[in-house]
Amino acid sequence: MRRETFDTVILGAGAAGMMCAIHAAARGGRVLIFDHARNPGEKIRISGGGRCNFTNIGATARTFLSGNPHFAKSALGRYTAQHFIALVEKHGIAYHEKTLGQLFCDRSARDIIAMLLQEMAGAGCELRLSTTLERIERSEAGFTVTLGGERPAIVDCRHFVVACGGKSIPKMGATGLGYQLARQFGLAVTETRPALVPLTFGEDVLAGFREIAGVAVDVRVSCGKTAFEEALLFTHRGLSGPAILQISSYWRETQPIRIALLPPTDMFALLCAAKRENGRRSISTALGEILPKRLAARLAQVQGWSGTLGEATDRKLATIAATLHGWELHPIGTEGYRTAEVTLGGVDTGGLDSRTMEARAVAGLYFIGEVVDVTGWLGGYNFQWAWSSGWAAGTAI
Ligand code: FDA
Repeated sequence: MRRETFDTVILGAGAAGMMCAIHAAARGGRVLIFDHARNPGEKIRISGGGRCNFTNIGATARTFLSGNPHFAKSALGRYTAQHFIALVEKHGIAYHEKTLGQLFCDRSARDIIAMLLQEMAGAGCELRLSTTLERIERSEAGFTVTLGGERPAIVDCRHFVVACGGKSIPKMGATGLGYQLARQFGLAVTETRPALVPLTFGEDVLAGFREIAGVAVDVRVSCGKTAFEEALLFTHRGLSGPAILQISSYWRETQPIRIALLPPTDMFALLCAAKRENGRRSISTALGEILPKRLAARLAQVQGWSGTLGEATDRKLATIAATLHGWELHPIGTEGYRTAEVTLGGVDTGGLDSRTMEARAVAGLYFIGEVVDVTGWLGGYNFQWAWSSGWAAGTAI
């Protein structure tokens, strides 16, 4: 088998791996980045509905979940959203802010992949696709890596970077190999679970709402002390939409979630005003002027809110308003890794240096991106973590 030597070998040509490769190579080292997929950056390609929500201008450690909420501060503070925006602008990629600080490409997520590949080529990295990791062992100089696939080789390197992501969307090549490698080298891995994922419900709840699948409404959804105000989407299997994906990262089995429909609206005041204006309207019709019509009709039916506004006492209207702002539901699960945007948990940050992402106990071994126990909210935060942690490792190598 061919024997080769590189300064740095990176497992995974995703967002974090490519960013790391660019900066490690820019410092003059020989860098090899490999991936078992046939194309680099497949998750970038499908992200943001094909337009890649590549960062969020409000990204700070506060917008991430981690066993150590301070861990991400160093990398996020030194390679910020503004740094990535500068790179995007240098490549002439047009972008726009959609909402809540979320930046998307105007044209296509492929522009981000092309940009990273161009930077990698400029820095002189070697990219090998359809390449698998057969084995990795510690050696005197660093690591001996056995590669399989299209071009089997034994590679000696001083630095080995694990950037192979988490377990979400196995169909796209997610394997969870990074956790296995962490354990091989004695690093702890925290519990992993699907996050940014739709929630599923039992037949008792679904029966009431299946027929309004596709309806979206702005809500405040909370679980314990955490709350998000964004859109909720009814689906055939349960609830989705940004608000639900956000809260899914905080929800645990047996916990209820609470939903307030159209949160800033004073529902009681609106219903009283509607009653004064025209008491002959049915409650369902009046609700349909505040909420999406199909949702209002279904809610009125499920809750038994019959009759006209004129017939309803103020007390009844207050009860309706309270229900609309305090709807408690018990999810039975999530849609799982099949559709989860990210994996919550991962390589325990206690074993990593937050400035460099290097394993404290294994010199030359680095973990970056989603494989680490740092998980962002929905909205460009996860890519920013990939860029920041990739940069931190790349510039430290
Ligand atoms: P990533 O998963 O990107 O890359 C890992 C690479 O390792 C892959 O190329 C994979 O093929 C390779 N690999 C895995 N196992 C391997 C093995 N055993 N051998 C060799 N190679 C292996 N985030 C965001 O901020 N904005 C957004 O718009 C979106 N949108 C979005 C949509 C969808 C549908 C999903 C699933 C996810 C998102 N995300 C997102 C999340 C974002 O995609 C994610 O956080 C980053 O891609 C993580 O980057 P990494 O480089 O860590 O892993």
